[in-house]
Amino acid sequence: MKDKYQRKIDYMRISVTDRCNLRCVYCMPPEGVAPKGHEEILTFEEILRVVQAATQVGIRKIRLTGGEPLVRKGIPSLVESLADVPGIEDLALTTNGILLADMAKDLHRKGLRRVNISLDTLDPKRYRALTRGGDIRRVWQGIEAALKIGFDPVKINVVVMADGNLDELSAFADLTRNLPLHVRFIEVMPLDRNAQGHGYVSVREMQAAVQDKLVPCPGPQGAGPARYYRLEGALGTVGFISPISRHFCGTCNRLRLTADGVVRPCLCSTRGVPLRDILRSGLDDEGLVDLLAQAIASKPREHNLREGACNVPMSQIGG
Ligand code: 5AD
Ligand code: SF4
Repeated sequence: MKDKYQRKIDYMRISVTDRCNLRCVYCMPPEGVAPKGHEEILTFEEILRVVQAATQVGIRKIRLTGGEPLVRKGIPSLVESLADVPGIEDLALTTNGILLADMAKDLHRKGLRRVNISLDTLDPKRYRALTRGGDIRRVWQGIEAALKIGFDPVKINVVVMADGNLDELSAFADLTRNLPLHVRFIEVMPLDRNAQGHGYVSVREMQAAVQDKLVPCPGPQGAGPARYYRLEGALGTVGFISPISRHFCGTCNRLRLTADGVVRPCLCSTRGVPLRDILRSGLDDEGLVDLLAQAIASKPREHNLREGACNVPMSQIGG
């Protein structure tokens, strides 16, 4: 279905939990955030119903996010049922990688083919500081497992911070020489207090910081708002995502479903449609399809991040 601005909306990002096993400095306060209660979170059956209805308004691609999606019990079985929904052509997952090594095989067997792994530094000490305690070796085990099992593409998301990892961009790009990884550098979005003040770096500055020669190239499968390049002779690619310096809102194709069942037409939108309680009070499929259509119709022309008007942590809207 198209929205008011003639954008075709065919992609839904689903946050399956607001919990996370890390506390990245730009995402959470040091003490973490109080997790929602189990009864507040959509059940797998409810998520499945929403996805089935979403295919009726043209959703074809699903991405599971969090919090950290792999901390929710039984995720492989959710993957299995979503992979089977008629009309869903593409199913992907964004993870911090900590639990991936153990789960990659099962996820692949149940029908997941694409993963994005968040990794903002290659330095173990920095990783520990940035994530407040994370062990980078586990992420590497996850990345290796994903490549070995045949996930394709495997993308690495790097949120770039002037005071954090700007000096590592060439090292990240170098990873793509011998591994079929798609490294994407992302501008930090000033979503809330946690995300502000890490030193915003524009894509232009990032490109200058990668010292090697980048040749423009087509993106991997599932290419969204990133612009892609390749180091000469490299197996993988290097992409840049600029939510701030160059709005990609004009080609936005997505809806978001939060863990507690609110359909958000845009990252920072206050015009979310709360589905959970209505679902639980017996809403029929037709009513559900109508509410999803309403959410699409209320998609704003563009986000309001630059004004800092958004006050929700990323762990709750799912990256
Ligand atoms: N700006 C940009 N990216 C963010 N992420 C979390 N918070 C922000 C932010 N403020 C990223 C994570 C992960 C994805 C889910 O979202 O690092 O890659
Ligand atoms: Fe967890 Fe992702 Fe937030 Fe880091 S950015 S704390 S991995 S949800």
